[in-house]
Amino acid sequence: MTDTAAPLRIAIAGLGTVGAGVIRLLDTNAALVAARAGRPIEVVAVSARDRGKDRGVDIARFAWEDDMTALARRGDVDVVVELVGGSDGPALALSRAALSGGKGLVTANKAMIATHGLALAEIAEDHNAPLKFEAAVAGGIPVIKGLREGTSANALTRVYGILNGTCNYILSTMERTGADFADVLADAQARGFAEADPAFDIEGVDAGQKLAILAAIGFGTRIDFAGVRVSGITQVRAADIAQADALGYVIRLIGEADVEDTPEGPRLLQRVRPCLVARGHPLSAVEGPTNAVVAEGNFSGRLLFQGAGAGDGPTASAVAADLIDIARDEVGAPFSIPVAHLAALPPAEPGHRTERTYLRFMVKDRPGVLAEITAAMRDGDVSIESLIQRGRAEGGGEVMVAMVTHEGPEQCVAKALELLEGSDSLTSAPLVLPILPL
Ligand SMILES: NC(=O)c1ccc[n+]([C@@H]2O[C@H](COP(=O)([O-])OP(=O)(O)OC[C@H]3O[C@@H](n4cnc5c(N)ncnc54)[C@H](OP(=O)(O)O)[C@@H]3O)[C@@H](O)[C@H]2O)c1
Repeated sequence: MTDTAAPLRIAIAGLGTVGAGVIRLLDTNAALVAARAGRPIEVVAVSARDRGKDRGVDIARFAWEDDMTALARRGDVDVVVELVGGSDGPALALSRAALSGGKGLVTANKAMIATHGLALAEIAEDHNAPLKFEAAVAGGIPVIKGLREGTSANALTRVYGILNGTCNYILSTMERTGADFADVLADAQARGFAEADPAFDIEGVDAGQKLAILAAIGFGTRIDFAGVRVSGITQVRAADIAQADALGYVIRLIGEADVEDTPEGPRLLQRVRPCLVARGHPLSAVEGPTNAVVAEGNFSGRLLFQGAGAGDGPTASAVAADLIDIARDEVGAPFSIPVAHLAALPPAEPGHRTERTYLRFMVKDRPGVLAEITAAMRDGDVSIESLIQRGRAEGGGEVMVAMVTHEGPEQCVAKALELLEGSDSLTSAPLVLPILPL
């Protein structure tokens, strides 16, 4: 770096957890960032809602814009960093304005990229403007870089992992303490590991957004967030975790994607669902709010990326790495392949795929119920490997029946459950957890 190297001038919209983290990182690591970027990275202007709020970092030295889209119009800004959030609204307006004005855009916004990523990438390509979003998936883990660059010479067979730290914190805490879902969620909220409105996390939507982004980059396909089949963790009870433990498994919320060759052409399977993970599998050891992604390449073999999926420091680290890439002029197509060349794959129908499954029923404590369930399994052509009936719950009235199936087509389990639909022996909907293959 020479002393005269022109700085990369950035504007930051959003000064919350991540925005303040980025300012802190650029202050703390200014010299090494400049050395690695080949020039200083200099914050010029910022915007948020409340100018007077104490953010733990000094923002008085930067220009302030009340209207954050004004950041995109400033002549003294090369790159806009969008750290506001929300799939639409002001974040999207700012992002469009920045890219169509030829400025770079760095964002941590998974909701916006999962929904509008292709449209933004088209604007970026048309205006030769860099668009980067490492922090949008798995916080501090360089998994976008890993897939875009590290495995770029591979055909990936499968990408899967633990993509939501809140769910992983809840499930691994339930496992450690034996507490039930609602209590652990309340504790997670009190400790700041879960949002006041946790629906996006616990219902699997957040993991689905990240999975859609990973699948697009990993398989060279157009982002299809609407095509992600999502189920969350709200139905998992402490008794399921204990039962899984007795069988040698933990329960984790897993996002998985692959491309299936069918006679009609390739199909994209993307789904997020709680799974039983055998204790020998690397994902079983991922605890607390950690994220982990496994990518299987045809030459690289299995790669595991693991680390903090959120938090100011890790997320700021990913944002700053994107800025360093832009400062170095190491950019390329946002999704690795120009948007026009991304494949538009229809969603796969996984009914014929085989897996082993854990099934749990809460049933009335009366004779004949077990026979009714096993008859439905027989009629659905589901082969039972082991069956466990738990003793009476305190207070009586309801007992738990759990089973593990032999490997068989998913549609057989679906058929058996259909046969039980409406049965007055069941006190709640059955829980179906696939067993993740090793
Ligand atoms: N937190 C994480 O660990 C994490 C990890 C990965 C990705 N992300 C993503 O990073 C982004 C930011 O997350 P965060 O946790 O930093 O959020 P946050 O703490 O809620 O901060 C959001 C910031 O945006 C500002 N803002 C909101 N609406 C605005 C508006 N209409 N106009 C101007 N400013 C507005 C807020 O201003 P005020 O402060 O003045 O209210 C605040 O500074 C989101 O896309 C999120 O998904 C976060």
